Order: sequence, then C-alpha cells, then structure tokens
Amino acid sequence: MIKFAIKTLGCKVNQYESQVIRENLQKNGYFETDVESADLVIVNSCTVTSRADGKTRGFIRKFNKINPQAKIVVTGCSAVYPEDIKTLESISGVYKVVPNRDKLDIPFILKSIYGMRCGIKSISEEVSGFDSHTRAFVKIQDGCDQNCSYCKVSLVRGASRSREEPKAFEEIIRLAEKGYREMVLTGICLGSWKGEGDRNLSDLLERVDALPGDFRIRLSSIEPNHIGPALIDIVARSAKICRHFHIPLQSGSDRVLSLMKRRYNTAKFRELVADIRSKIPLAGITMDIIAGFPGETEKDIEHTAGFIEEIQPSRLHVFKYSDRKNTASYDMTPKIDPVVAKKRVEHLIAIGTCLQEKFCKKFIGKEVEVLIEEKTAGGSFTGYTREYVQVKVPGSIGSPAGSLVRVKPTGIDPESRIALLG
Ligand code: 5AD
Repeated sequence: MIKFAIKTLGCKVNQYESQVIRENLQKNGYFETDVESADLVIVNSCTVTSRADGKTRGFIRKFNKINPQAKIVVTGCSAVYPEDIKTLESISGVYKVVPNRDKLDIPFILKSIYGMRCGIKSISEEVSGFDSHTRAFVKIQDGCDQNCSYCKVSLVRGASRSREEPKAFEEIIRLAEKGYREMVLTGICLGSWKGEGDRNLSDLLERVDALPGDFRIRLSSIEPNHIGPALIDIVARSAKICRHFHIPLQSGSDRVLSLMKRRYNTAKFRELVADIRSKIPLAGITMDIIAGFPGETEKDIEHTAGFIEEIQPSRLHVFKYSDRKNTASYDMTPKIDPVVAKKRVEHLIAIGTCLQEKFCKKFIGKEVEVLIEEKTAGGSFTGYTREYVQVKVPGSIGSPAGSLVRVKPTGIDPESRIALLG
C-alpha cells in the first residue's frame, strides 16, 4: 500500500483542490499518513507573493530532510511558468513537478510516477468532506479575467471558469447532510461565477438560501465590482448566508488603484460600503490591502490610512507588495524601498488592529452564533461568528467542535482581539 501526505499552501481554492486530490488517491487505495512515513509527498503550492514561493521551497527542503526516501511531487500555482517549474525541479528531493492545470488529473499523475502498474480509477472533481476543518469549502469558480497589474494568480490560473450549478448545489447539500455547519463558497474570482442562462452568484445564493437545514454559507473574497444590490439584498434577507463580505480594497489612493488596474475608485467603494451598511448595519466587512506598490508615495499611503479609518473595516489583511515576474507592475517604477514598505505595512496593521477591536466590542452583550472550531491549550474553544468575529467559548459549554452555539460575549481580550465569553 502506498502512503501519501499532502501539504497545502495558500488560498481556500487550493485547500479544496488538495481535498479532491486526497479523496481520489484514497479511492485508488492510497493511504494518508504524515510526512515522516509517506512514500509520496504532495506539495500544493501558492505563488501570490515571493514569500509564498519561498515557503513552498522551505517546506520541500524540510520534507526532504525529514524523509529523504519520499517522492516529493510539487504542484499548485508555483508550478506554471517554465522558469518556475525549473526552479522547483532543481530543489533536491523533488521527484516531479505537476503543472497546476494537471493537478486534479490523478490518473496522469500516478501513471507518471508509478508507470502503468496501477489500475487507476477514474476521478471525480468533488469532495465528500474535510478532515481537519469544521468548515467545508465548495469551489464554484476558477481563474480570473480582471488582470490587476500586480497579480500573478490571474495569470497562472487563466480565464474565469464556473462550476456547473447542479454540481455546486449538490455538493452543498451533500456536505450539509454530512453535518457541516458552514460551507464557504470559494473561487479565484468568486463574483464572476455564471450559471446557465446568465445566472449569477445572487441567483445561486437565492437557491441555496431556500434549502432546509441548520447550516450557514459564507462567501470568500469577492471583488467590489461584483457586489451589486441584488447580492447585498439576498445576504440581508437570508437566515443562512453570513453577514460578512471580504472585499479586497488594495489601496485607498485613486492614483494607485488606477495603476493597479482595479475596476473602481474610492468613491465607488465608499458607496458600496454605505449600501451594505444601510441594509446590514452590523455586517463584517474585511479587506485586503497592498502597501508598497511601485510609485506609492507617502501621500498615497496617507490616503489609504485615512480611507480605512473612514470606512472602518472589521478586519484588515495587509500585504507588502511583492514584485511578481510576468505581471504588469513588475516593470513599473520607482520600486519602494523594502524598509519603507515594511513601515507602511506596520502602520496599516496597527490601524487594522484598532478597528478589529472596535468591531468586536459591538457584540458585547449581544447574542451571536459561533461555529465552534479549535480547542485552545486552556481547554476552551474558539470559533467565528457570522460576522467573522473570533470568539472564545469556555470548554464547559459542552458543544463539540463543528457545532453552532448561540452565546453572548461578555468582554473582549485586547491582546488577541477576540470577543470573550465568561
Ligand atoms: N504583492 C502583494 N500582495 C499581493 N496580493 C496579490 N498579489 C500581490 C502581490 N503581488 C494580495 C492581494 C490579494 C491577496 C489575496 O493577495 O491583497 O487580495
């Protein structure tokens, strides 16, 4: 029996795809284990920043050190451009690099590693569950047509493709029946999902909302230009869909947004957030920001900081700009001194920390619904509310991981910025 291990880096789409690989290997008689005792180690990489690429290389080296006998197979977004594939192939221990577009073609992968001796069962691009997660991911879309100037992912993932509605819909039902209490709809450019007859994401959500069962649906990252009134309305009306939008803002300077080739300006973004808050006053609105984009001035970063303070997101993910080969911004100048960029990142993170705490405080004394996830060292649990506020729940509540509980936070922990119960 061949034993395998999988390491997943990066986004929720990658996590979904690793699960597809896992289930299909199991279907073919392979057995999942840890890296130490695996014959085959699959690394599903992420290439969004050079740091992500570095992490992939770090894991490969580590795995080769722990288990030099294992065949390490690398796939994912770092495995697309010939020069990137060459770099990966040159790392000692790497047995094979499978281009990202082929990563779900399990018969192809297995034949190329083990030859024709295994009778390989056909594969299905769906999942039946997730081992280590209380939330389940449902991939409904891949690729992106937005072509933002900094983005390598849209280049390596190709044009936008949508998963057929019946398949997406049936997967949600299947996972709900299995007992998952939160399904996260994911895609590389989620909002561009299209079904038959031009059905869009709001139409799909209307249908999902009508399903019976005690589970919730969360949207992963969605572009501002894909959030229209119909989408906000269904989120506002629904008892199932989480009142949480993760909207990548990237910059609060119109000049930088235009250099980034984003399809909105701050005025549009302001209107969008106002529309969301008018219909869903306590919506969680989280954002990605990139600091240190080529040509970004002190004035631009002040605009970004000021705009964030104005918009008051509930949580920020701040990225330091990373120059990615083959993207449009790779050739843009002047590049920002890494020390300056780091300072800008830290400044924005500090603002985000305050805003996160402020948002958390809004829920003290209010009933919230928490999906119990991890057990902490102290025996209590943490989990997230529908608005994406992290809550610590005492172990004495007696509900196992994966269950939904209704609690009233009594305070907030200023250090970890999570709402506390008791
Ligand atoms: N440099 C830094 N951050 C980036 N992101 C995407 N490309 C880059 C890059 N070249 C960030 C964006 C995006 C998130 C997933 O990754 O903020 O929303």
